Amino acid sequence: MKTLAILGASGHGKVVADIALASGWDSVEFYDDNWPNCSQVSRWPVIGDSHSLLLSCNKYQGVMVAIGHNETRLKKARQLEEAGALFWLIQHPSAVLSPFAVLGKGTVVMPGAMINVDAKIGRHCIINTGATIDHDCLLADGVHISPGAHLAGTVTVDDCAWIGIGACVHQQRSIGKGAVVGAGAAVIDDVHENETVAGVPAKRLK
Ligand SMILES: CC(C)(COP(=O)(O)OP(=O)(O)OC[C@H]1O[C@@H](n2cnc3c(N)ncnc32)[C@H](O)[C@@H]1OP(=O)(O)O)[C@@H](O)C(=O)NCCC(=O)NCCS
Repeated sequence: MKTLAILGASGHGKVVADIALASGWDSVEFYDDNWPNCSQVSRWPVIGDSHSLLLSCNKYQGVMVAIGHNETRLKKARQLEEAGALFWLIQHPSAVLSPFAVLGKGTVVMPGAMINVDAKIGRHCIINTGATIDHDCLLADGVHISPGAHLAGTVTVDDCAWIGIGACVHQQRSIGKGAVVGAGAAVIDDVHENETVAGVPAKRLK
């Protein structure tokens, strides 16, 4: 019996549960820092907060942090790793991953996503529904590529950057640590650390 503990009883957490159950996990148990106020997510009960998960993480065959905010997800995941939690790659059966792509533990790959040859993706990333990551892209830890976003070949994305829904990034561009690319943007220049860009072509938001 393989049970996955999920920290984060949100819409994103539900999707992670759905993918886990579709990909070989037998059951999921939810934790959330709004517990006990938050006691249910969809059909699943929430049974504790992140502190209780830190104390009980070793009884699970796997743990996922399903928190959308990149820095918070990475921080909570690193605390759980230090407490001995086991993290795995969670991948929907409909996602297409090159056998020559390398993905870190704690990352989730959602339905219909595609990851091409020699891409390298760090730990605790979200590769959301229908996103595509082309050859030789290099993603650090805690990155989120939103639904339908596309990275052309050899794009680098640093820690905790967020690429918005439907955005496209030109080949060989770099997205800095903590940067945000707005929904629908077309990125043709490098995006610097903590910068937010949006539009076609993408420009820095004031
Ligand atoms: C880019 C983004 C982070 C900016 O959010 P924000 O800092 O709260 O910005 P605001 O909503 O205050 O908008 C500031 C300005 O930028 C414009 N703007 C915001 N997002 C934009 C976008 N995606 N494309 C073009 N312009 C955008 C607004 O129209 C506004 O312009 P104005 O000052 O002329 O009125 C946000 O709009 C966005 O695109 N988030 C991504 C959402 C997403 O991908 N969700 C998927 C989750 S899985």
